[in-house]
Amino acid sequence: MAQQDDNILKKVVSHAKEYGFVFPSSEIYDGLGGVYDYGQNGVELKNNIKEYWWRFMTCLHDNIVGLDAAIFMHPDTWKASGHVDAFNDPMIDNRDSKKRYRADVLVEDAISKMEDKIEKEVEKAAKRFGESFDSTMFIATNPRVQEYQKKINETNERLKNAMGSNDMASMKQLVLDLEIADPVSGTKNWTDVRQFNLMFSTEMGSIAEEANKIYLRPETAQGIFVNFLNVQKTGRMKIPFGIAQIGKAFRNEIIARQFIFRMREFEQMEMQFFVKPGEEMKWYEFWKEKRMKWHLALGLGKENYRFHDHLNLAHYAKAACDIQFNFPMGFKELEGIHSRSDFDLKSHEKLSGKKLQYFDPEDNQNFIPYVVETSVGLDRMFLSVLASAYVEEKLEDGSERVVLRIHPALAPNKVAILPLMKKDGLPEKAEMIMNNLKFNFRCYYEDKDTIGKRYRRMDAIGTPFCVTVDHQTLQDDTVTIRYRDTMKQDRVKIETIKELLENACSINNLLRLI
Ligand code: GAP
Repeated sequence: MAQQDDNILKKVVSHAKEYGFVFPSSEIYDGLGGVYDYGQNGVELKNNIKEYWWRFMTCLHDNIVGLDAAIFMHPDTWKASGHVDAFNDPMIDNRDSKKRYRADVLVEDAISKMEDKIEKEVEKAAKRFGESFDSTMFIATNPRVQEYQKKINETNERLKNAMGSNDMASMKQLVLDLEIADPVSGTKNWTDVRQFNLMFSTEMGSIAEEANKIYLRPETAQGIFVNFLNVQKTGRMKIPFGIAQIGKAFRNEIIARQFIFRMREFEQMEMQFFVKPGEEMKWYEFWKEKRMKWHLALGLGKENYRFHDHLNLAHYAKAACDIQFNFPMGFKELEGIHSRSDFDLKSHEKLSGKKLQYFDPEDNQNFIPYVVETSVGLDRMFLSVLASAYVEEKLEDGSERVVLRIHPALAPNKVAILPLMKKDGLPEKAEMIMNNLKFNFRCYYEDKDTIGKRYRRMDAIGTPFCVTVDHQTLQDDTVTIRYRDTMKQDRVKIETIKELLENACSINNLLRLI
């Protein structure tokens, strides 16, 4: 279960660094804002999350295929997609702290505070009235709650209008009217709000005169749109069908913060689902449900997820919602599900002059499909798994341990093979066991330090099982298996380990839950 606390985030960040999950990029030069490297354990966890997603999308849906498009794309791609003109964030500075913020995020945070106040009123009343409490009735009739709700609705409306009409003066007025103070300086001394384009650009071509401005893709989706007909024709795909892709995306975020939650270089797992116009809302609901089930199968707790409808739609979206997760910083966007209409394909068709239409043999007609997209940030998935897994435990003997209760199917290492001593043939026996398991599972071999210290290290990187090889092993081919979560130990036959690991660590078993 996620634990809401700024301190937890700090602890997770330092644990991630200490145990080889995530390092600040180019740290020897003091790092680079919003850019991180994944270490030896981080990359394994990340790959397992990718596999869980990829297999769900492409193996469990026979009408979804994969793609790996290039990061660089023709610059016209980003004109057609609207990113050159509209992929902006409203930026505002506080003159006293000299800190920069996204004005829309300041407003959204103020709305969240009002929502928290409603929740507190409801909690208080629930305590007061006990079992007879009817929360729906209370929310609908309590004057204070009504007042908060009215203000939330008005603020949402003003935010939507200001963003929709690109009216940055109104954005600033909203910040002033809500009396938002800078969390650093505590003052309300704000500059005007300016639009800031989030795309990184670079130049292609070795001679300056011939240089061409190109962009690092801010979303993977456009690689799918421009390849829509290539895939459809070569794969003889029939609508409805989807194209899935995992890859890097780049955004010059005004403020990259909260560790790997908001980065400037990150990874997305996106799927564009092409449907008949008019059927998009049916598929939008279908994918909302499917994606939520995919998240819930990980067992991080139903109460830690919720849908959040977008009022302030991206330039391409006709309907959109987030799946929010209860991160240590509170409920925040983990995944976006968007109904993008035919916006992208139509724009690409117009600018490129190439037809991007589907021929429907049943109706004998051409049309531009509508698109429902699911887009989850791999790094945010990683953070949700890591932060939920991080547990500090006080043990019966008074000692403490930090354990990462990562689902075994996602854990970087599935099993640690630990010879009790570095002599008497125990290491050789341990290696034999490892050689037998390593083709199926990622194993970790460790023969230094006391067994207790080795168990703690394995707990700290989330290894679900430890296998200890001792002198008895040499006599009867049994080992001690120790379970990370309960710390219980069993004596088992070596030949049973494989099946035990298969049952507990298989991504297939996780997929079967969906
Ligand atoms: N193609 C649609 C799209 O890109 P988005 O809501 O902007 O939609 C999708 O991004 C997902 O990508 C988000 O839900 C989030 O998980 C992830 N994401 C977006 N910006 C990010 C950032 N700066 N750092 C890490 N993840 C990010």
